[in-house]
Amino acid sequence: MSVRARKILSVVGTRPNFMKMAPIVAELDRRPDDFESVLVHTGQHYDPIMSEVFFEQLGIGAPDHMLDVGSGSHAQQTARVMERLEPVLLEEQPDMVLVPGDVNSTLAAALVASKLQIPVGHVEAGLRSFDRTMPEEINRLVADRISDLLFIHSPEARDHLLAEGTPEAAIHYVGNTMIDTLVAMSERLAELRAARSLGLEPGGYALVTLHRPALVDGPLLGEALEALEALSRELPIVFPAHPRTRKAMAALGLEPESERFQLLEPLGYLDFLSLLGDAAAVITDSGGIQEEATYLGVPAFTLRDNTERPVTVTMGTNTLLGLRPGLLADVPRMIAEVRRREALVPPLWDGAAAGRIVDVLKVQLASAEKGKKGQATF
Ligand code: UD1
Repeated sequence: MSVRARKILSVVGTRPNFMKMAPIVAELDRRPDDFESVLVHTGQHYDPIMSEVFFEQLGIGAPDHMLDVGSGSHAQQTARVMERLEPVLLEEQPDMVLVPGDVNSTLAAALVASKLQIPVGHVEAGLRSFDRTMPEEINRLVADRISDLLFIHSPEARDHLLAEGTPEAAIHYVGNTMIDTLVAMSERLAELRAARSLGLEPGGYALVTLHRPALVDGPLLGEALEALEALSRELPIVFPAHPRTRKAMAALGLEPESERFQLLEPLGYLDFLSLLGDAAAVITDSGGIQEEATYLGVPAFTLRDNTERPVTVTMGTNTLLGLRPGLLADVPRMIAEVRRREALVPPLWDGAAAGRIVDVLKVQLASAEKGKKGQATF
């Protein structure tokens, strides 16, 4: 008996969402007898360099629906995604909605789908910083609570979800889809040599990314730039700056002066990962980069008070500096220390996570159709 193809609608909105969903979309497309994939881009990130370039490089193809929500306050952005996604879901009638990560688009899409009683799968579920001043923490908590399938990539995520009352059967340890993308691109990355094209010696510079409100929307930004400028005397710095950070710097009239401090526009996926792979260290407040650095074995120094990705500290190459830019002076010594420790890649960060997710989708959707309680978790 032939079974109809299930329609899986994936919602992406920001730069880090794209590399988390690309391998899943590709895997769904590889199984056309079982699945039909529909991709929605909310347009939370809209600059070509924050969005289009990723679609091109990751080979996802153009989204089927573009919601063009753009920037705004959290309420505005979330509300706009909700208003514009609802008619798309009503038209498409998907069997499941997939949402990645922890951004406003993730939260909004999970809310709309669950209220239309469409099962929701959350990719990168169960991460917790336990810091509710971070908008992402609220987004994670709500998205997880209302999702039917929780795809996790980190051992402690299971504990967090169980402690919050999520049924064990809904949790699936599948590995890390962002690492799938990295593995799939590794040959192209090896050929790129982005460092050399910027006049940098592989292994002889620090890569910097800073964009979180706690760091860039207040006085710490000036302190961080000063500390980086001082560090650049020892270790050249390359800093592709997020638009939020650029705007904050322009407003304060901040511009690095040293020739050894290159401030760049945001980079595409391939150039950025090539630079990361060849860096002596990365200094960041991003979530995903802590993971990519751990996979690549590059020491990461995270300018945050907490991380929702503690496995990168306990197993990997990540060091939490806190919101203390003054500690950057010590980075050269700390690099040597991290290099002496044994760093490991967490389990199932192996390039095959998307395949596992799609296997789970197949079993769960078939069980849900048959109405077999105890098999399907929704
Ligand atoms: C968002 C996510 C954050 C994620 C980050 C990755 C939320 C709450 N935050 O933060 O978790 O780590 O994406 O980059 O969802 N802007 C542009 N062009 C763009 C996008 C943004 O100029 O293409 C500027 C706008 O001024 C905008 C600001 O950046 O107001 C912030 O963008 P927004 O999407 O609200 O949040 P991010 O800081 O990018």
